[in-house]
Amino acid sequence: MDIALFESSKNAFLDIVEAKEYIQLDRISMVYQSLQESVQKPLKMIMLYGKPGTGKSMFLTKLYNDLKEQQPIFFYKTPILDESEFFKTLAQDLYGIKYNDTLNFTHFMKIASANPQDSTPIILLDEAQLYANDLMEKIRLLSDSRIVKFVLTLHKTEKEDLIAKEHFQTRIWESIELKNASKMELKLYIQKKLMKANCFDISNMFTQKNITLIHQLTQGNYRDTNKLLYTLFEIYVTYIKKLKKINTKNISNKYIEMAAIHTGLINA
Ligand SMILES: Nc1ncnc2c1ncn2[C@@H]1O[C@H](COP(=O)(O)OP(=O)(O)OP(=O)(O)O)[C@@H](O)[C@H]1O
Ligand SMILES: [Mg+2]
Repeated sequence: MDIALFESSKNAFLDIVEAKEYIQLDRISMVYQSLQESVQKPLKMIMLYGKPGTGKSMFLTKLYNDLKEQQPIFFYKTPILDESEFFKTLAQDLYGIKYNDTLNFTHFMKIASANPQDSTPIILLDEAQLYANDLMEKIRLLSDSRIVKFVLTLHKTEKEDLIAKEHFQTRIWESIELKNASKMELKLYIQKKLMKANCFDISNMFTQKNITLIHQLTQGNYRDTNKLLYTLFEIYVTYIKKLKKINTKNISNKYIEMAAIHTGLINA
């Protein structure tokens, strides 16, 4: 088989978060639909939570891309940890006002009430677990006043832990959990990724045994699966170059295991 196909397959599993890379799977689509609906409801806050690599950033990216034409929406990919910087960025994005001095919460609220908006802007905050409690509390107050609607992602796993946090108590919010893929979903994920990259023949090389092993190794985590498959195809590329004669009828579980050792999913 053409070595270029293995190269393309490898690159299909690069860990990148872009709306055009978004893959639709039944559960993902359902969760995404409920997120889209929640955004249009008069909720004050929406939080997306789940383990690392379950697709939270991907969801925000997709949501941003889908809504940006129709309503005011801003995406803060990296947390703005400094309070003044945070409110300065908000003032700039929401009202087009540039501040050179520091801008505190009280001052920002004054600006906000002087600049009422037709529709509530949406602010997407990725990696919200990094915000200090103090700033989080102000973000909560801002949501309460309905000046902006926040959608945040947190890579915390326990819902109880989240609710226990003061700023999430007795508030009108919705929480959505993202989970690892089931074996079936993982199979579809891999197939769809390869289809997108026009690697049909490579996709056909995967057997149920391969999928079972991959799921066992990654627990269905999307990021781990990307890493594993990227490395798997790297191994294939290297071996085809070196050995020329290599079985490309089916993917070999031996190579998957090798890739797992390389990526640290198996401790050798
Ligand atoms: N729906 C999807 N479609 C296509 N690729 C996806 C999807 N969800 C996740 N991925 C892939 O999985 C990788 C990890 O997803 P993402 O970065 O969104 O996870 P995360 O939950 O934000 O993790 P962290 O908590 O570490 O920030 C992405 O780089 C992307 O390649
Ligand atoms: Mg993320």
